[in-house]
Amino acid sequence: MGTPTRSGNLRNSNETMRLIVTGFAGVVFGFFLGVSFPTLSLTKMNLPSSLFPSIDLTYIEDKYSKIPTKAIWDAWASFRGNRSMSNGFQKTSDTKIWVPTNPLGAERLPPGIVKAESDFYLRRLWGLPHEDLIIKPKYLVTFTVGYDQKDNINAAVKKFSQNFTIVLFHYDGRTSEWDQFEWSKRAIHISARKQTKWWFAKRFLHPDIVAHYDYIFIWDEDLGVEHFDAEEYLKMVRKHKLEISQPGLDPSSGFTWQMTKRRDSGEVHKEAEERNGWCPDPHLPPCAAFVEIMAPVFSRDAWRCVWHMIQNDLVHGWGLDFALRKCVATPHEKIGVVDTQWIVHQSVPSLGNQGQAEGGRAPWEGVRERCNKEWTMFQDRMANAERAYFQAMGIAPPNPTN
Ligand SMILES: *[C@@H]1O[C@H](CO)[C@@H](O)[C@H](O)[C@H]1NC(C)=O
Ligand SMILES: *[C@@H]1O[C@H](CO)[C@@H](O)[C@H](O)[C@H]1NC(C)=O
Repeated sequence: MGTPTRSGNLRNSNETMRLIVTGFAGVVFGFFLGVSFPTLSLTKMNLPSSLFPSIDLTYIEDKYSKIPTKAIWDAWASFRGNRSMSNGFQKTSDTKIWVPTNPLGAERLPPGIVKAESDFYLRRLWGLPHEDLIIKPKYLVTFTVGYDQKDNINAAVKKFSQNFTIVLFHYDGRTSEWDQFEWSKRAIHISARKQTKWWFAKRFLHPDIVAHYDYIFIWDEDLGVEHFDAEEYLKMVRKHKLEISQPGLDPSSGFTWQMTKRRDSGEVHKEAEERNGWCPDPHLPPCAAFVEIMAPVFSRDAWRCVWHMIQNDLVHGWGLDFALRKCVATPHEKIGVVDTQWIVHQSVPSLGNQGQAEGGRAPWEGVRERCNKEWTMFQDRMANAERAYFQAMGIAPPNPTN
């Protein structure tokens, strides 16, 4: 999105200039309103009128009395002149702001004030805002946790450097106990009882909220990370240009797909062979373009797409792994498994036990049943959506692939 020149000028002018203009505008505000500030539009801001008396004019005057009035006037005149010349804006005679290139719904704002994206950076309550952050972590890792898994998570977090923002999604309501770990104080804790990883991800990891992070790890709590280092992992991801990836799974840890099994040779792999007939197309899941949902890592761009694909009500995310490829242009090249950094899937029953015991069945049975149902529902929705799209476009759909 191009930065419109009007705000650009304002932002690029140096600090002094901005102070001058602000101070000046404050002092003579009443004087010039409606005369020579046609686009300032202060009335549009719905400021409570009680705000203005609270501005300490004496202070402002003290601060700026040393600046010659002529200089202030020249600065203001030049600023105004540049504004009216700026292109990219329709010149209108009224004072209404309307910027079509702003985010949807924010058109009434001058673009210079619009912050369409955010982050999870913790800030101080004092000092200067631009000095708040010693480092701005470039990566994000989330774990969906219950307190019972604290030792495992403590071990996992240590494999992620200071370059990571750590977010814990708590499904058991126990958050303060985690403060026994030093790192917990710089982590973000989000708590909602008996909710799943994908429920949290949909609600709290909107692409605009996590836009500052190059890579996003959305991980389960039962992963053994003894042979894993996050920085080294990302080196491989960058080197092999993976948009969606996961670390290889230790083959001894129970059932896994061939694709996500860790291999001894090579740095990453992007394809596998499954049992006869499982992969009619070797470029499609589960033989390629495929990672599982327990420990995925997304690039910023891939996550922006995947977030949109997550359904609000299909909280277990089953079937998502088979559909991830729809978010990448050449999935059999951009989705892969990193072999040099690998993990162990410990398959600890966790959220499954948070189910409800019904009709003499164990809690996990109902959860498992829902998982399977969701898988079917997700596949149906995807198939229907694709069919509707191709119909609307008046073109024949490609052969069904799932
Ligand atoms: C106005 O534009 C002139 C030249 O285009 C530039 O030198 C000057 O710094 C601008 N003033 C402001 C306040 O942006
Ligand atoms: C964090 O990122 C910086 C910049 O990419 C890098 O130089 C540094 O080695 C990273 N820190 C760790 C602990 O890897």
